[in-house]
Amino acid sequence: MTSGAPETKERLIVFDTTLRDGEQSPGATLNLEEKLEIARQLSRLGVDVCEAGFPIASPGDFEAVQRVAREVGPLVENRKSGEPMTIAGLARARREDIQRAYDAVSPAPRHRIHTFLATSDIHLKHKLRIDREECVRRVKEAVSFARSLCDDVEFSPEDAGRSDREFLTVVLGEAIAAGATTLNIPDTVGYTTPEEYGALIAYLIANTPGAEKATWSTHCHNDLGLATANTLAGVRNGARQVEVTINGIGERAGNTSLEEVVMAIATRPGEFGVATWIDTTQITRTSRMVSAYTGIPVQPNKAVVGANAFAHEAGIHQDGMLKHHSTYEIMRPETVGLASSALVLGKHSGRHAFKVRLEELGYGDLSDEDLNRAFERFKRIADKKKVVTDADLEAILTDEIYQPPEIWKLKYVQVTCGDHTRPTATVILVDPEGKEREDAAVGAGPVDAVYKAINRIVREPNTLTEFVVTAVTEGIDSLGEVTIRIQPHHEETSRWTHPQTGQTQARTFSGHGASTDIVVASARAYMSALNKMLSARAEKLERKGS
Ligand code: KIV
Ligand code: ZN
Repeated sequence: MTSGAPETKERLIVFDTTLRDGEQSPGATLNLEEKLEIARQLSRLGVDVCEAGFPIASPGDFEAVQRVAREVGPLVENRKSGEPMTIAGLARARREDIQRAYDAVSPAPRHRIHTFLATSDIHLKHKLRIDREECVRRVKEAVSFARSLCDDVEFSPEDAGRSDREFLTVVLGEAIAAGATTLNIPDTVGYTTPEEYGALIAYLIANTPGAEKATWSTHCHNDLGLATANTLAGVRNGARQVEVTINGIGERAGNTSLEEVVMAIATRPGEFGVATWIDTTQITRTSRMVSAYTGIPVQPNKAVVGANAFAHEAGIHQDGMLKHHSTYEIMRPETVGLASSALVLGKHSGRHAFKVRLEELGYGDLSDEDLNRAFERFKRIADKKKVVTDADLEAILTDEIYQPPEIWKLKYVQVTCGDHTRPTATVILVDPEGKEREDAAVGAGPVDAVYKAINRIVREPNTLTEFVVTAVTEGIDSLGEVTIRIQPHHEETSRWTHPQTGQTQARTFSGHGASTDIVVASARAYMSALNKMLSARAEKLERKGS
């Protein structure tokens, strides 16, 4: 299903910034392969514009944006609109940033430069230390330069939500005159209310010289939990592009979430008068992938993609649902790619049934290798667990497929623990040369013992900063999913530079694992985080050497 094909309604452009603003979430570091994989999934989802990163921030960011432009930019397969995604790169209002962004995005058939400069008095005075006149001059120069390189130029007055409205009409009028084709209005600090933000969009469209020549866009942050409401208010008042992220990840409390805006529009088509080309059945898959790669779990009660979003617990609700689903359900779960049927797989299910179920869950395009790996894993789990539900299947796929290259492999893990035993672990790993390495350790608990034993072999000092275990389904035999985060001590990989503020921050790496045994799931999660950290270091060293 698309969210109401825009043949009959005005088209709403979906601009996804998961790979740029989303990646600025605390701890959400993505490597090159993960960025490419997410970009491919965003293309399948039907996103119109993919902001792939901030190319000037580092050589790694530049390369990631360029690879997305080259490899994902041309794809039209599985896209309901039949058009390729536009690949955008962010640039401060400076020539070198803009040139770098252009060089990174230009391999894509459709590409955009997105440049920004703050306009609020708070930012002008305390951050940029310039006056309004200088701000207008820089905007004119930046947009004209971007337009000299590229026909598709977006300008954002950062902190527009707290900027003087009249001044905004001056800045934005100059941006349009200099060639900006999209004007994006960021509520950078998530300060506005829906009424204010909607009124701001209406005011700017009515009062900016040349407003009719540009597409108006929303960009809201969620500090007060109002990002989706503000975005929809912007759409009601004339915005025809929304800037969003998967699962609403982003700076601080995050950005507007794609799935909430898209499903609000699809569920209440009469309310907004617009439609998108998003294939909503890809929403769940995209959400899981982004959560697995960033290591940011989705809260269970999160709208549309939370584990409880379609669960009906109260007896009175269950009774209503049995009589007719419309009593308590405003969206069908299959609309967002969640399984509709209670059909479950078990140990007698064959490869064909497994493949068909995955296709129904939106994973029709897995490679034979991924499919085989997932099937083998499914068989092992089905031996331990009577029924394997769709939630289990999703966890298996996440654990098998969304993993970094295995530099070190976990071969064997065994623990002894109990209230009168010192928790002890023995592990066997396969090193990068293919040699088996074994060691044992004692710890405060079984997981600590396993991590210590792994550390004795791999010898990569790090600090565990987060450890989360969740049960995939109900019941004592549920799969456990573990997500962890580690902070390396090695200086090559321990810091990263924030693209907007230029400050360096501590860098962390996430890992995830699933198993019916949570100690095994914890070991898998640790190996996944270690491998991610080691590939980041290798990438960095390679770039330094070349
Ligand atoms: O929130 C913000 O202001 C931004 C801009 C760079 C668009 O992310
Ligand atoms: Zn932002």
